[in-house]
Amino acid sequence: MRLHVVAFGCQMSVADSGELAAPLLARGFRAADGPDDADAVILNTCTVRQHAEDRALSLIGRLKPWKERDPGRVLIVSGCAAERLGGWIRERFPHVDLVVGAKSIEDYPRLVEEALAAKFDALSESRGSFAQAEAAAGLPIGWTSAAVAPVTIMRGCNYSCSYCIVPSVRGRESYRPYETVLAEARAKAAAGAREILLLGQTVNSWRAADADGRERRFPELLKAVAAIDGVARVRFESPHPHFVDDALIAALADVPGARDHVHMPLQSGSDRVLGLMRRSYGAAGFMDKISRLREAFPSIEVSTDIIVGFPTETEDDFARTLELVERLRPSWTYAFKYSPREGTESAREADDVPAEVKEDRLARLNAVCDRFAEGALAARIGRAVEVLDEGGAYGRTRDGFRVKWKGPSETGSLRTIRARGVSKRTLLGECE
Ligand code: 5AD
Ligand code: SF4
Repeated sequence: MRLHVVAFGCQMSVADSGELAAPLLARGFRAADGPDDADAVILNTCTVRQHAEDRALSLIGRLKPWKERDPGRVLIVSGCAAERLGGWIRERFPHVDLVVGAKSIEDYPRLVEEALAAKFDALSESRGSFAQAEAAAGLPIGWTSAAVAPVTIMRGCNYSCSYCIVPSVRGRESYRPYETVLAEARAKAAAGAREILLLGQTVNSWRAADADGRERRFPELLKAVAAIDGVARVRFESPHPHFVDDALIAALADVPGARDHVHMPLQSGSDRVLGLMRRSYGAAGFMDKISRLREAFPSIEVSTDIIVGFPTETEDDFARTLELVERLRPSWTYAFKYSPREGTESAREADDVPAEVKEDRLARLNAVCDRFAEGALAARIGRAVEVLDEGGAYGRTRDGFRVKWKGPSETGSLRTIRARGVSKRTLLGECE
């Protein structure tokens, strides 16, 4: 029996797909190459922008003939769009066997058993016993590479940014216990991970009492994960500027990876728009956090997310965003056109920036961001960089740049590569 998992959306969604796969893998499923050779497909959806949701819905539709070819197949739809549209998905797509929203991920193993036990048994009879089924081969589902493992430390979000659907589909923050996170990170390091990616919607707001009742905060957790045997790097995504404080900056000093690159979403450079977005900072406050990081770690790289065309955004507001980007000098940027999400505060306002204006601002923003991204890559040419080998002569630098090289490759090793050129935002180099 074979399982294919498709994850849309952020790294948390990709990491969740590992958890979603687990009960099926435990039942003897192993990874398929694609839907065609799969008996079960898990489609983990995203709803952050309309486009993300549309892609997921269109794939559900396209899996109808897949299911009709063999009605014994199992289709599970999970994640953020499943949370938002659950009942509608069941009605609109009767070929879906189980819809599990993002808020139910902790209950998922039980839900999947309840909903599908009979079906699994039928599957096992018709397709060979569990005993014969191989364990999942290759890369664990939800891992970015055999050398890089995600560890989810918190779920949900306590903020209420006016454009954002996440708090409503993922609920309020809940933190995984200190010991649970460390045990998972240790197990993943023992399985070969050299880099641990700590994940949460506002990852650095994590806090939890440990087994002795002592409250632990994110900086301590970060250091404890970095101290695990075999862990060479730790990253975290995405931090909220509010929790970038002295304690975090002090902790970063001991953590390769975390002190070399930070991805921190800005969203806008206009104080007026940031206020309407209900971000809890202004442009100066955001830049102050960045300056403090750069004072402590002069070569730290920063990447960010920006939204253009938020309701009422003027040309002047947009000019502030361009100005702030000039000061931020991001090594890469994910820039998005505003997409109204039903039920959010800003969706009650008119989506009044015309489509062509959004398009034009996106293009102008990308042109500025491309200049910084290309500059950061060009500055590395001729230099020796430390790369964590992810296999196939591909890996990433400590500060997050992709690298391909000619020469030997062994997953999980750290190697020094001399950068010689750039192609498609990837450094090309040679082994030293
Ligand atoms: N429209 C456009 N972009 C959005 N993002 C979140 N919500 C919206 C929306 N309604 C972007 C933000 C966030 C990233 C994950 O997606 O930039 O940081
Ligand atoms: Fe998409 Fe947000 Fe859900 Fe991630 S948390 S899958 S970005 S809606």
